[in-house]
Amino acid sequence: MDHVSVLKSDVEKLLDLKKGEIVVDATLGLGGHAMMLLKNIGKTGKLVAFEQDERNLKEAKKRIKEFAKGETKNVFYISDNFRYLKKRITEIGIKKIDAILFDLGLSSPHIDDSNRGFSFLNDGPLDMRFDERNSLTAEVVVNEWKEEDLARIFYEYGEEKYARKIAREICSHRKTEKFTSTLQLATFIEVAVCGGVGKKWREKIHPATRVFQALRIAVNDELKALSDALDQAAEMLNIGGRIAVISYHSLEDRIVKQFFKKLEQPQVSMQESIYRNHGDSIFEPITRKPVVPTDEEIAQNRRSRSAKLRVYKKVRELPQS
Ligand SMILES: C[S@@+](CC[C@H](N)C(=O)[O-])C[C@H]1O[C@@H](n2cnc3c(N)ncnc32)[C@H](O)[C@@H]1O
Repeated sequence: MDHVSVLKSDVEKLLDLKKGEIVVDATLGLGGHAMMLLKNIGKTGKLVAFEQDERNLKEAKKRIKEFAKGETKNVFYISDNFRYLKKRITEIGIKKIDAILFDLGLSSPHIDDSNRGFSFLNDGPLDMRFDERNSLTAEVVVNEWKEEDLARIFYEYGEEKYARKIAREICSHRKTEKFTSTLQLATFIEVAVCGGVGKKWREKIHPATRVFQALRIAVNDELKALSDALDQAAEMLNIGGRIAVISYHSLEDRIVKQFFKKLEQPQVSMQESIYRNHGDSIFEPITRKPVVPTDEEIAQNRRSRSAKLRVYKKVRELPQS
């Protein structure tokens, strides 16, 4: 399937980049948004692109090179997690940025390639690492983590109401048989929740969907990485600079919403916070409500159906801590 970037024209309009600006694409993926950003900043601007998946990074570089007709001196690729935003950007001599985009989560190759272990539509190893240089895989989590830790991540990261039951049954089963494949785990969960394979489940989604989401978040430490990166992005933006975040589930969206709420209304119970600044907003929302894809976009790209775009503008410097 060809790769389609989500809410691309909305991001373009709301980030409102000018020629010569410095923009960060924190989640390069296959480079769809990045090419649009590059077009908007022109040859005098700079694009810094993070991607922790080496395969995607390689493919994106190829596409961007073709798009820019080989003129990519103003593009800086960083093969790392965006949680190291400040350190890695400062290393290349950039102190402040004008805009940053986060388009969170998976890209289509992650889902389409069953060997990556993100999907249970086709069988694959229990992997789920974005960055294959890391050692923690879903197989390690499922077979080695304590029952209470499994129950906690299924509940917190998957919002799974049968978290305890599923964790208990996994821990009992793994004493005799290890979990090694996505289909094996998905079928096991289906039986644990519904009492049998193919028995009707009440919700629209497969009973293993939430557990798979939880495992992916745990393997990649996604929520902590996002919080860390938002902190650094808020600090690195110039006054007037913008941040756009596209999230795909409520946990990510909540982190983004709450983070900026603190910076929009810093006087609200901020006694102990480093952001305390006597009530002046540090960020203002450009989008009061999240922007969501049109029915037409969803029809063309099903993955966009859960997307929410929020954009904020920095209006004041953060107080020194
Ligand atoms: C939704 S895709 C981005 C698609 C991209 N905007 C495009 O138009 O092609 C998300 C990408 O971000 C990467 N990613 C996710 N979390 C990351 C993180 N913490 N650090 C760096 N890259 C990350 C994933 O590997 C994936 O390739």
